[in-house]
Amino acid sequence: MEAIQALPVGTVVAYGGPAIALGGLSLFFLRGYVNNHRNGWGSSNLPLPPEVPGVPIIGNLLQLKEKKPHNTFTKWAQTYGPVYSIKTGANKMVVLNTGDVAKEATVTRFQSISTRKLSNALRILTADKSMVAMSDYDEFHKTAKRHVLTNVLGPNAQKRHRIHRDTMIGNVVQQLHAFLKDHPFEAVNLRKIFASELFGLALKQALGKDVQSIHVEELGTTLSRDEIFKILVLDPMEGAIDVDWRDFFPYMKWFPNKSFENKIEQMHIRRLAVMKALIKEQKKRIASGEEINCYLDYLLSEAKTLSEKQIEMLLWESIIETSDTTLVTTEWAMYELAKDPERQNRLYREIQSVCGADKITEEKLCQSPYLAAVFHETLRKHSPVPIVPLRYVHEDTELGGYHIPAGSEIAINIHGCNMDNNVWEVPEEWMPERFLDRKYDSADLFKTMAFGGGKRVCAGALQASLISCTAIGRFVQEFEWRLTDGEEDNVDTLGLTTHKLHPMKAIIKSRN
Ligand code: HEM
Repeated sequence: MEAIQALPVGTVVAYGGPAIALGGLSLFFLRGYVNNHRNGWGSSNLPLPPEVPGVPIIGNLLQLKEKKPHNTFTKWAQTYGPVYSIKTGANKMVVLNTGDVAKEATVTRFQSISTRKLSNALRILTADKSMVAMSDYDEFHKTAKRHVLTNVLGPNAQKRHRIHRDTMIGNVVQQLHAFLKDHPFEAVNLRKIFASELFGLALKQALGKDVQSIHVEELGTTLSRDEIFKILVLDPMEGAIDVDWRDFFPYMKWFPNKSFENKIEQMHIRRLAVMKALIKEQKKRIASGEEINCYLDYLLSEAKTLSEKQIEMLLWESIIETSDTTLVTTEWAMYELAKDPERQNRLYREIQSVCGADKITEEKLCQSPYLAAVFHETLRKHSPVPIVPLRYVHEDTELGGYHIPAGSEIAINIHGCNMDNNVWEVPEEWMPERFLDRKYDSADLFKTMAFGGGKRVCAGALQASLISCTAIGRFVQEFEWRLTDGEEDNVDTLGLTTHKLHPMKAIIKSRN
């Protein structure tokens, strides 16, 4: 998700909850409902997708226990084929596991699959779809996407924000050198340094300033930068995959689940209180006549049709999205390079031949095919958003030659598409060289489906590529990276986007 733009499928993994909560209810009533629900399926000449067998009432929920549905989905594709259906409680979900059907869903059949069905947690955290990534494909979506592209993420906007990216990468490198000087034999935690700097960039793009602290009247306290980061980024990321068992049994939405609601509501209230305080502070600057090229100033002057709440949400969206997936990709790329000295040297040699004694900059990226290959191969093997935020089928359609009835949810398993051995040789291996092969078009940014596709394609793909490629290039140009002992096996992931469970620990050595 992208941060939040990632995985409401996190909710797919809520098995324990429903099983326990259902104990006292009439099975008869539930079975009746499920049977009625099923009758809607199959009113076309095309066959329905194969079903993964589950158990009555909860369907396949128990099989999704490992909290990484993309892995389970990929395994199922080997048995049931590229398109199959599962049941998450009372909901039918169709899972797509190859690039071809994924493209069919995002492009050809988009008109029938352009809305989202959100979990209860996401409904609260997105203030009822008030963000680009989680809205339906409607007027709000088109307007909001246009705004974020015009001021923050489109090519011209990225040119205007270039200075902030250069400063950010310079700061990270400087901190790495300082760390090395003070702790020459210790492993560095790149994530800690990079996450903080990315957050700074996000604040500058959104508000014009890397805020160090803020007094939040509504919370009656002054928050440090770390506390602001927690409330705006870490907490909502965690909340977004929180599970409310009622998600799986919508006909039981009247059943109270207060502890869940209170927890998520509190996150939402704190986040909006902080956003309001940050905006209020910047409005004082604007009132004093000082305008800055940032998203807030732009929205206040150009986005007249948006409400105050929508502006708060859109600013927050740009902050959380900048802070997460680029970090995930860069950390995984550095992990792979630190594990593989030969490929790291190959990349170093390429950078030296392109840049000589100069530091690598964004202008040099187009002359560095191996660096681009490292980036794409990392997106392929470690897709930061392994499953596209669930889409909802609002009218009968077809996919992969199957009839897909209205009311189904669609999960596009990007991880599965990228592990498809009909398309990728030895897909489990991290092998950047595969992208130097002619059969992959090097101009096609979307070859791995990592950024989704069609009208809902990721708005931040350019920013993510610029930052991640320049950062990887510069880190390798300045330092030799080596994993600490035992780190090689630390490949587990966590969370909404595929964060490395344990931050990479690497020993670095200056190349100068
Ligand atoms: C490597 C980094 C990133 C990856 C892999 C990624 C991936 C994705 C994916 C898979 C989607 C969903 C597309 C769909 O629903 O079909 C998406 C949407 C989106 N992303 Fe990203 N993203 C990344 C970075 C960013 C960044 C840095 C930003 C902004 C700062 C961003 C902003 C957005 C927005 C606004 C959307 C919603 C687009 C729409 O619904 O029209 N992303 N991204």
